Amino acid sequence: MQFHTQAVHAGDRKKPRPEVPVTTPIHTAASYFCESMEQLDRIFGHEEQGFCYARYDSPSAAALEDLVSTLECGHGALACASGMAAIHVAVLTALADRRRSVVAANALYGATVGMLMNVLEPSGVAVRFMDVWDLDALRAVVAEAKPGCLLVETVSNPLLRVAQIDRLAEISHEAGAALVVDNTFATPLMVRPQELGANLTVHSLTKYLAGHGDVLGGVVVSDNQHYEPLRALSRTVGPVLGPFECYLTMRGIKTFPLRMERQCVNACRVASWLASHPKVERVYFPGHPAHPDAVAIRRLFPQNLFGAMVSFEVRGAGRDEVFRFMNALKLVVRATSLGDVHSMMLYPVMSSHREISPKQRERMGIRDNLVRLSVGIEAVEDIIADLELALEV
Ligand SMILES: Cc1ncc(COP(=O)(O)O)c(C=O)c1O
Repeated sequence: MQFHTQAVHAGDRKKPRPEVPVTTPIHTAASYFCESMEQLDRIFGHEEQGFCYARYDSPSAAALEDLVSTLECGHGALACASGMAAIHVAVLTALADRRRSVVAANALYGATVGMLMNVLEPSGVAVRFMDVWDLDALRAVVAEAKPGCLLVETVSNPLLRVAQIDRLAEISHEAGAALVVDNTFATPLMVRPQELGANLTVHSLTKYLAGHGDVLGGVVVSDNQHYEPLRALSRTVGPVLGPFECYLTMRGIKTFPLRMERQCVNACRVASWLASHPKVERVYFPGHPAHPDAVAIRRLFPQNLFGAMVSFEVRGAGRDEVFRFMNALKLVVRATSLGDVHSMMLYPVMSSHREISPKQRERMGIRDNLVRLSVGIEAVEDIIADLELALEV
């Protein structure tokens, strides 16, 4: 071989050695070489397991999918480039071969509402928002409308309502609809929607699972029935997660249970401290004894871990006072996102629910004095001291 040819080929496509690396390496190849065309044909035809093209499947994604599917008790999973990409493909999968209509909870992440109203509705999908805590009314509407999909969050963003996933599964299955659950806030440490009858469970991996603020990703965990349609859709539209993000997410998940336990314990302390602070009008936290979904919480969160999100209203505050309070924070990071090792605070009216009209926000109960705190793994005394000083400003 000549020098220029060697530069292109030497060292590549070596047969794997028998030793196995202890953690999954980052596989950057876009396509895969087979010994023969016959074998490649079998892989393309799904008669033999194997990799041929990274948009279809790749070793890095497969390892992460295996991991998350195991934690969520699913049949299989699809790693996606963001949480929103995951929600989009999950809903499209649920709607394939069913009626093109969605019943969605009236308490959802703002971009999910935007995706339903600005992407799916204009493409001919009927979307109806409902109070999914009024089970009788929901059952009646779902039985009559027979939607293809019921979409909810286990713990809603940002008011932290807790959905009765098992009851919602009964209601949707009676009507032939698929139940899609965004489990980002609850995480599989506390709740595994597949065990409660969900068909497709979605996560923004960006949050607790990756956990360090350095990955954007999502995942759909599927039951047996929807797994092949989900993969077929993904092969066509290609929402897949890149190998570096797969690696970082797997690395993050190794410490996810430890981080999450600590964050939950910290959140309980922070929530009860906030509840007794005179400048705090109202606290939203699933561990709060007066939470409206206490029955669901007792059933879904049996270990006294209630998640690590705490939302609260600053007494008498408008946008200016909230800005002053948040500008005074020294430790808690003022930034969009949640679930990282560091505590973070977000102003929903300005960010997560910005695209939602003030009228609809009011209907959703998201007021101008509401802030959302994602409690991190720091020493809880330091988090509380930071909040205390900022509330005094
Ligand atoms: C509950 C929930 N689901 C989905 C998403 C979207 O995730 P991503 O930003 O990774 O697309 C978010 C983002 O904040 C979220 O809070």
